Formats: sequence, C-alpha cells, structure tokens
Amino acid sequence: MWKSAVFLLTVASIAAAAEVKSRRVRDSSTSIFNPFPFLQIVRFANDECAAESASSGTCYTAKECDDLKGHIQGDCANGYGSCCVLTYSCRETMRHNLSYFVPPSYPEKEEEANVCPLKIAFEATICQIRLDFERFDILGPKGGDCVDDLFVVLGGNVNHRVPVICGQNANQHIYVNVDTVEGPLELQMITGIARYSRDWRIKVSMVPCDSPFKAPNGCLQFFTGGVGNFRSFNFNQPDTNRSGYLNSVDYAICLRRERDMCYVTYSVGRGTGNSENSPGKKDNAAASTPTTTPRGPRDNSLIRSNSFGIATSTDKSMDFQSDSKGGSSKCTGDYLAIFGLERFCGGAFSLTSGSKENQPITVKDSGPLMVLFKSDKTFNGRGFDIDFVQGPCMPITFF
Ligand SMILES: *[C@@H]1O[C@H](CO)[C@@H](O)[C@H](O)[C@H]1NC(C)=O
Ligand SMILES: *[C@@H]1O[C@H](CO)[C@@H](O)[C@H](O)[C@H]1NC(C)=O
Repeated sequence: MWKSAVFLLTVASIAAAAEVKSRRVRDSSTSIFNPFPFLQIVRFANDECAAESASSGTCYTAKECDDLKGHIQGDCANGYGSCCVLTYSCRETMRHNLSYFVPPSYPEKEEEANVCPLKIAFEATICQIRLDFERFDILGPKGGDCVDDLFVVLGGNVNHRVPVICGQNANQHIYVNVDTVEGPLELQMITGIARYSRDWRIKVSMVPCDSPFKAPNGCLQFFTGGVGNFRSFNFNQPDTNRSGYLNSVDYAICLRRERDMCYVTYSVGRGTGNSENSPGKKDNAAASTPTTTPRGPRDNSLIRSNSFGIATSTDKSMDFQSDSKGGSSKCTGDYLAIFGLERFCGGAFSLTSGSKENQPITVKDSGPLMVLFKSDKTFNGRGFDIDFVQGPCMPITFF
C-alpha cells in the first residue's frame, strides 16, 4: 500500500514534469486542442487575445491556462482556445509574454507598506521589455522626489537609465533595454508607511530583437502612429501636495517616423489623452500658482498654460509665468529638448523667449523624432503634456 502510493507519486511527478516540459516548448508557438481523441486535432497559435477585464491575454487551452494558474477570460481561436490572463505578484518569477504584474491583494488595492519584487526571466532573443502601466496609482513625489512609494526597475542594460517612478502614471509605458544582459529583470514596487490605496496593473511584453515593434535603442518611451500624446510622469496628480514631475530624470521619448511623413507638429495638449485628466484639475500644480494669471471660468489659455511648466535653474519663486525661457538655450536646469530644435523650459511651450503663450511647434528636419527630458535635483513644475501630429512630405504651397 505504502509502496504503491510512492510509486504512483513518482509516476505522477514524472508525468507532471513531462507536461511542464511540453508546455514550455509549446509556449511560444501553438496549443493542441483535442476534443475527440483519435478523431480531430485543432492546432492554434498562442497569440494575444482580447480578455474581458484586462486588455489582453494569451490564447491557450483551458487546461494549459489552469496549469499556469491563469484566469480564463473569454474564448479565442474560434472557441477552441481560452483567453488566459496571467498575473504575477511579489517574489514570483514571470516567464510568459503578455503577463501582468499586480499587487498581492489583486484585484483589491494595496494598503500596506511592502516591498514587492518581481523577476522577469527572458530568452536571449529578447531585446526589450515593454511595461504598459494599465493602472498605476501609487503615492506621488514630494517636491519631485519619490519618498514614500517607488517603482524601481533593476537589471536592464547598464547604459539605459530607467528613472525611479512614482505617482499617477496610468496609460504611461516604458521600454527597458535588455539586449546586453542575461536577466532576469527585476521590478520592485515599494510602498511606504503612509496610508494610501495603491493600485497597479503592469502589462509586460517581451520584445524580440527582430520585432517590428522594437523601440530605437535608448528610448524610454516609444510612440507609433501619426498622432498621439506624451506627458511627464505624475502629470495627472490630483493631490496638490504631490504634483509635479520627477527630479533627476534623463530620458528620451521617441516617435516612429510614419510612412511618407516629413514633419511633426508638437503642441501643448489638454490632457484629453487620459480619461483621468480634466480641465477641472488645472489648479493642481506648483506651476499654476502665479497670481498674475487671468482667472476666467473655463479660460482655455489658462488651461493650456497649466499644461506646461518646467522649472528653470533659477526658479526659486516657482513663478513660471514671468520666467519663461521657452526656446532658449538658457534652460540649464530642467528642460525638454526637441531634436532639431532648442530646449524648452519655463511656463509656456514657445519658441519666443519669455512668452507666456503656448504655441504649436513644427519640426521639419529629417532624422530621428526624439524629445529628451532632463530634470535636476531641485525645483519642479507641472511638467508637460504634448500632443503630436505627423505631416506628409507633399510640397507645401499653401503656407
Ligand atoms: C509578445 O507579444 C507581443 C504582442 O503580441 C509580440 O509582438 C511579441 O513578439 C511577443 N514576444 C514573444 C517573445 O513571443
Ligand atoms: C497638503 O499639505 C497641507 C500643508 O501641509 C495640508 O494642510 C493639506 O491637508 C494637504 N493636502 C492634502 C490633499 O493632503
């Protein structure tokens, strides 16, 4: 009796090991669904699928999804597959493409102080890891420094700086270059003692070196498509005591030059790219304090001017409106630099030094479409929220 139990156990574990092995081999290729043994075999690719609650899952058989401890959220592969959402949390190792990093209490929010590390293991064919912050709401910075809650990325290429991030960053994304390291990559969500309901759901995509979606090397953010929006981290922070961009960052935001497009126009956005933002939140930044600003109800210029605020190195008063050095190379502390143009800082996005009005700015140069953002350790502002639109190479006669 005892012996046979051991024997059964051994058989079971051999079977389990075999199962694991075959599953790992199939991971990046196909699943086999065999509803009627000996009659029919359905083979389908383990592709991305649309899940009911999360934005995406991977198509597996129901059994595979169960083995992976995933959550089935709908069908895929014409009903033969199950759209499987894989979530991982603290002290786990993620090995699957298109999985999610979530709080240990998921789907509940995280209230407690915690250090939550997650390892991401990847194959040698992977060049980048893209992190999509589908939800990202942790305590914001104080004076630009992440002092209570922090999101830290460790283990990427040594020459690719990933800033420590905190605050409100839903719908932001970052790329981590990993082509010169073996991994694993480690993400750490560190929550401090201050009470707050933290919420995060970070989609992890492993980008193969030959992927058409690979970002140019060194870009922290990469936008494809002719029209879009980018903004500084923590831009949509409702808590006035924790608003402003992050100190000590230095990163590149890149756009893919779309087919037959020759110029890009950048203009200060109105936050419409993010449902959490609204004109009603226009007063939430240090940059919005000047009393000289005309205050009319629903004043568009005020809303717009409050969407751009980058501290200059002499900005002790935080009076961005009167200290604008837009388009000037005097921006030595914090600045946004558009490749092919100058540096921008101050209270308005403008090529005219000292201007208080934002203006659309067009770059016609060829070359990479890239914007750098650099901030020092001191002084801070609302940040930036920039819409962009690419334009075609036709001769422009109507200007
Ligand atoms: C991960 O998924 C994305 C999106 O479907 C895909 O482009 C990429 O090639 C996948 N990576 C791997 C390693 O399969
Ligand atoms: C911001 O800080 C001030 C002064 O410390 C405090 O009175 C206020 O309650 C804080 N606001 C929020 C939303 O925490």
